[in-house]
Amino acid sequence: MKSRWFPRLMFALGAIPFFWLAWRWHHHQLGINAVETVARYTGDWTIRFLMLTLAITPLRHIPGLQALARLRRMAGLYTFFYATLHALHYWARDVQWNWQIIQEDLTYRRFFIAGMIAWTLMIPLAATSFDRAIRWMGGRRWRLLHKLIYVTAVAGVVHYLWQGKTATLDPIGYSALLAILLGARMALYWRRTRRMRSPKPHPAG
Ligand code: HEM
Repeated sequence: MKSRWFPRLMFALGAIPFFWLAWRWHHHQLGINAVETVARYTGDWTIRFLMLTLAITPLRHIPGLQALARLRRMAGLYTFFYATLHALHYWARDVQWNWQIIQEDLTYRRFFIAGMIAWTLMIPLAATSFDRAIRWMGGRRWRLLHKLIYVTAVAGVVHYLWQGKTATLDPIGYSALLAILLGARMALYWRRTRRMRSPKPHPAG
């Protein structure tokens, strides 16, 4: 597949969950508790795109999968898009912009605090996800800033674990997946630093 088409395909695929939700909403197909359905649906797609974004870096090291690197930005932007939808839906439809409830959530409820940390840290990442921002910041500073995605991922999974409503293994499954992805990232980092530190063979020897 031509790599030019790869991000476009990802753009089209990533929009499907949104249009499916819009279709269900328009046709009143969201069940008895539509607010909860939307909260869960958008939360689930946020965490899926988050895991996909993190998986791309280790996967692209597998021979033949290098082209995946071109999808990382799109996957990251979709994570932010679904997280924003998820949070806005909660504030607008669940608590209807009741600032007292929002303030209490963010002061006393650890579940919301973790979600908010995850979402807030994504704002600078989304804002600097364009080529011009990379040029303006310089590669080193940009890469350092984008390490925040790991903090977002941990906070996002903790938010899911602390939700505590759903009696399923999903939050534990996502925690295990995150541990594997972070482990793979660390292994790649150690391999790179070891290579950089190991002395180059002397041309004469
Ligand atoms: C990166 C950020 C976030 C991620 C990855 C995330 C992910 C999730 C996930 C996976 C669920 C559980 C869905 C299910 O039960 O199947 C959930 C539930 C929920 N999240 Fe988030 N979330 C994030 C940020 C936020 C923020 C900022 C808010 C609001 C301020 C929020 C409000 C909620 C609420 C109210 C629920 C409960 C839905 C229900 O069961 O009624 N989340 N979230």
